[in-house]
Amino acid sequence: MNIGLIGFGSMGKTHAYAIHNMKYFYSSLSYDAKITAVCAAHYENAMTATERYSLGEARHSEDDIIGDPTIDIIDICTPNIYHYETLKKAIAAGKHIYCEKPLCVTAAQAEEIAGLAEKAGIKGQIVFNNRFMTPPMRAKQMIESGQLGRILSFRCDYLHSSCMDVNKNAGWKQNRDICGGGVLFDLGSHALDMAVWLCGRIKSVSGRGQIAFPARRGIDGNEWNTNADEAFYMICETESEAVGTVSASKIAIGTNDDLSFEIYGERGALKYSLMEPEWLWYYDGARAGGELGGIGGFTKIECGGRYPTPGGAFPSPKAPVGWLRGHVESYHSFLTAVAEDKTTNPSFKDASHIQLVMERAYESNQNGGGMLTC
Ligand SMILES: NC(=O)c1ccc[n+]([C@@H]2O[C@H](COP(=O)([O-])OP(=O)(O)OC[C@H]3O[C@@H](n4cnc5c(N)ncnc54)[C@H](O)[C@@H]3O)[C@@H](O)[C@H]2O)c1
Repeated sequence: MNIGLIGFGSMGKTHAYAIHNMKYFYSSLSYDAKITAVCAAHYENAMTATERYSLGEARHSEDDIIGDPTIDIIDICTPNIYHYETLKKAIAAGKHIYCEKPLCVTAAQAEEIAGLAEKAGIKGQIVFNNRFMTPPMRAKQMIESGQLGRILSFRCDYLHSSCMDVNKNAGWKQNRDICGGGVLFDLGSHALDMAVWLCGRIKSVSGRGQIAFPARRGIDGNEWNTNADEAFYMICETESEAVGTVSASKIAIGTNDDLSFEIYGERGALKYSLMEPEWLWYYDGARAGGELGGIGGFTKIECGGRYPTPGGAFPSPKAPVGWLRGHVESYHSFLTAVAEDKTTNPSFKDASHIQLVMERAYESNQNGGGMLTC
């Protein structure tokens, strides 16, 4: 499958990384997929992307990609306001589409796109990637198996602190003219998807936006009035009459990428935080508390990298999330030392000390466990 990538900013790079490394993570794949063409707002950026990352050809415009009969899939990674037109063209060309969130910037546009895609018989997937972290996957499995019983209430928040610095220029995500909305569209779409996926479709909602820093610098560095919500708070009621709050914020000081939820049912509860992606917390209402606590309380379930087959083999399911990233950093530090004639760290001398300690420890073990000098 040949993929045409439209937009090569942070998410274009993220998608390219995923496609490029797919074969390492799955023991078998029923397809062979590669990016064969890339475009960005500026042709030079597409050139840099294709040359640096071996991603096929740079193209001048999205039309050069969508009109290419050798391309099967269009991957949309542009700012939100552009999605709708690109989606329409890609559907008309009969391409399958992987599109970043939010799908569009109005409900009417999104409904039209969903209808057109269905009529054309193409596959369309939105990138609500948080569904693919293992603790939310496990939460979904537990909810569907009835372990929580009827869901009564929930909380889901997606918190960043990136708008706290008023000296930083606003990016396009803080500009309603390009984002189409504010933090509700950016982080709120993820939080709402998580709440709906786990707790059910929402039948009514109330909302309250917040702009805490109305004056800041715009994209061009000039004085500018913030025109998009920096935080957004909702009360939601699901079709099954669970009530919950969903919020999104970029003015939550001290937070990094904090997507979290709590879900309370008749028989049990679940808690999760993306900043601790190894764990899902589960409360089983059937486990009695009692004197000194009995066996009640939340259980910490280890989910980490435990993906289902064929995705669970590599890296090992016991490896914590981020383990591979550490290996990349380690190799990078070695290659940098070679390329720039720097001292390696950790060095063979460091290794030699560890070797000596291990040898002495074995000797000690064989000789009754006494302390030996290293
Ligand atoms: N799923 C996630 O985790 C996640 C995270 C961040 C952003 N997003 C979404 O991804 C999308 C892109 O966000 P980003 O953070 O990568 O933005 P970005 O600003 O880093 O990159 C945008 C890219 O689009 C290109 N572009 C702009 N206009 C274009 C046009 N008309 N034709 C072709 N290319 C054009 C730019 O050159 C740039 O390469 C947005 O819809 C955003 O909401 C998703």
